[in-house]
Amino acid sequence: MTKITAAITGVQGYVPEDILSNADLAKLVDTNDEWITSRTGIKQRHILKGEGKGTSVMAIEAVKGLLAKTNTNPEEIDLLICATISPDHFFPATANIIAHAVGIPQVGSYDIAAACSGFLNALTTGAMFIESGRYKKVVVVGADKMSSIVDYSDRTTCVLFGDGAGAVLLEANYEGLGIQDFILKSDGAGANHLIQKAGGSAYPPTHETIDNKWHYIHQEGQAVFKFAVTRMADVSAEIMERNNLTGDDIAFLVPHQANKRIIDATANRMGVGPEKVMMTIQKYGNTTAATIPLCLWDYESQLKKGDNLILAAFGGGFTWGSIYLKWAI
Ligand code: ACO
Repeated sequence: MTKITAAITGVQGYVPEDILSNADLAKLVDTNDEWITSRTGIKQRHILKGEGKGTSVMAIEAVKGLLAKTNTNPEEIDLLICATISPDHFFPATANIIAHAVGIPQVGSYDIAAACSGFLNALTTGAMFIESGRYKKVVVVGADKMSSIVDYSDRTTCVLFGDGAGAVLLEANYEGLGIQDFILKSDGAGANHLIQKAGGSAYPPTHETIDNKWHYIHQEGQAVFKFAVTRMADVSAEIMERNNLTGDDIAFLVPHQANKRIIDATANRMGVGPEKVMMTIQKYGNTTAATIPLCLWDYESQLKKGDNLILAAFGGGFTWGSIYLKWAI
């Protein structure tokens, strides 16, 4: 029997219209374009505005676009997985809201929370359903409205994040294209370095949690940086090594977009030049679960069937991982 692999057969992104530039942020906190650009690589980010508009608003646009672009009838979808840490609500899952809004009938849909590694975890999970032969078409969407949990009076975090969504369609491939290998890791010992402390069951919202700003992202930047820079490079090198790949074999590194310095260090370790590194951080900032599908969407026209891609991420949890895939479109 021919082996089934899970391949991405379509990709679509969505970013909201409103832009928050470094100059705009310099009006809110004590920062400047030079610091933000040299320390992170970010120039601007897109922000979703409007009362009652949550992450699903962007994810719905991305999934609608994906279905139209791939000529897929929503009724053909077997499963929808949404990676997010800024769900519309704790429940129902944002995936349920998206599936309903785009007309996907009553099939399974659920959220995965693994911060900036969320898309890698969701994509791998979706791939298992395809590889097993149980499902034919799975939608995986990474979406985050980071502006809803960012404290715009904290200069150490507010310059980093933006809002966006990216979706892919996964289907069976019989030519050996698609996902070849993956590594997923986590270490809860890092939890307190990058956390939204309140709002969950440990600290339900109270006046006190609000006054303490525990409903916002808290990040110890330097501590996270140290882990991110080694772990993301380690896991990218490991997946290349065990698949006998060198930098020359790689068409593109598709890295999570948290900091240009982390991305550069990962590319260096892999022996991959800057021309082979997808970089969208300058225009979108860190959109958490959306960064990797947004990269694929942005660079789609430069990708060829059979290209070897390494997807890599590091984020809150701590969580990190890499995927080796062969582009199939
Ligand atoms: N503008 C100006 N100055 C600033 C700003 C700012 N926006 N932010 C911090 N500073 C100052 C600090 O106060 C500090 O000043 P001091 O030396 O007088 O104390 C100085 O700049 C240096 O601060 P550091 O925190 O050491 O800066 P660093 O070079 O580490 O950059 C950053 C900070 C960008 C946050 C970096 O540490 C980083 O990228 N960390 C990793 C982020 C990451 O990968 N997160 C995981 C994914 S996110 C997720 O999962 C949700």
